Amino acid sequence: MKIHIKSPGRVNLIGEHTDYNGGYVFPCALDLTIDLLFEKKSKESYVNTDLGYSMSFDTNTAYKKSNNHWENYVLGTVNELKQIKSKLSNFSCLIKSTLPSGAGISSSSALVCGLIKGLSVINNIDLDNAEIINLSRNVEHKYIGVLGGIMDQFTILNAKKNMGILLDCENLKTKYINLDLGEYKLLLIDTNVKHNLASTEYNKRVIECKQSLKIINRVCNSIYSNLSQVKEIDLSLSKNKLGQTLYKRASYILNENQRVMKSANFLENNKLKEFGQLMFESHLGLKNDYQVSCKELDFLVEKAKENDEILGARMMGGGFGGCTINLIKESSINKFIEAIKEEYFSKFALALKPIIANPDIGIQMKII
Ligand code: GLA
Repeated sequence: MKIHIKSPGRVNLIGEHTDYNGGYVFPCALDLTIDLLFEKKSKESYVNTDLGYSMSFDTNTAYKKSNNHWENYVLGTVNELKQIKSKLSNFSCLIKSTLPSGAGISSSSALVCGLIKGLSVINNIDLDNAEIINLSRNVEHKYIGVLGGIMDQFTILNAKKNMGILLDCENLKTKYINLDLGEYKLLLIDTNVKHNLASTEYNKRVIECKQSLKIINRVCNSIYSNLSQVKEIDLSLSKNKLGQTLYKRASYILNENQRVMKSANFLENNKLKEFGQLMFESHLGLKNDYQVSCKELDFLVEKAKENDEILGARMMGGGFGGCTINLIKESSINKFIEAIKEEYFSKFALALKPIIANPDIGIQMKII
């Protein structure tokens, strides 16, 4: 028996850094996937990837952190599953991927969710989606060191073809919204900036948001459980105590959360232009208030702003590199890329990479 898992990447239309603040996000899954083929083995376990990485180990030896970063995704997943079932079967796993890594489209969550799903089947561990999300988040927090939210995993597990998910990260309530974009497409442009700063700065933002919440609750004598719930008036009342940086972080979260709700409404009513405007506003907030952009992302968004065939653009994901997401007329994609790629290369000595994002179904499993 072999188990074939297809685990997709995720795109986020709008709602960045709101997930770990109990706010709204609006993602969909991509039609690019990591494919994992599992088989039970009696002796040793091994994982081979088409990227040239490979590793072998015994599932029942004690977990030891590897110096090889990507191996910790596998070892961390095995170790977390062992907290549920202490003895796991050995296995082989062949991995092929069409999903670029380090581009802010969630290749790490796609990998971890795929590993959890495959290994739980091999070991007869019954997990529902909420448990897979928790396990996957534990792997990223404990073994990779990124204090990420749940948007990526939730999307990978629950996405539907041609649908965006309006997700309330406080209670996981969802509303699926048809992404009927007519003559427009979602175009990702990979800056090819590998976001090395991302994990430290990401964790710093998580901490800053927690600090802001604490201060606001103290100043206002309130019991908000997350930043997204804070009322404008309480944010204003806390402005002095927050200081400039924390005030900026908190107001970005409040504004972005509003933008997500408005965006879902606009997209439900085919108001693409209005949605595009909010994408530009989101980028400005991420650049100036949340301060997670970089010059390469800003350049691409500026170029998009100058182009009449693009209704909106912004950086996507954690930031400090990765992709921009653009709402662009399909017939203008090639022309736009041709027009900017040389200037981008001469400015940053990097090649940009366009990826057309077709909203697709979430993780899939086949037993062969
Ligand atoms: C990363 C994290 C997500 C989310 C985004 C920013 O992708 O994994 O949980 O916080 O950044 O929106």
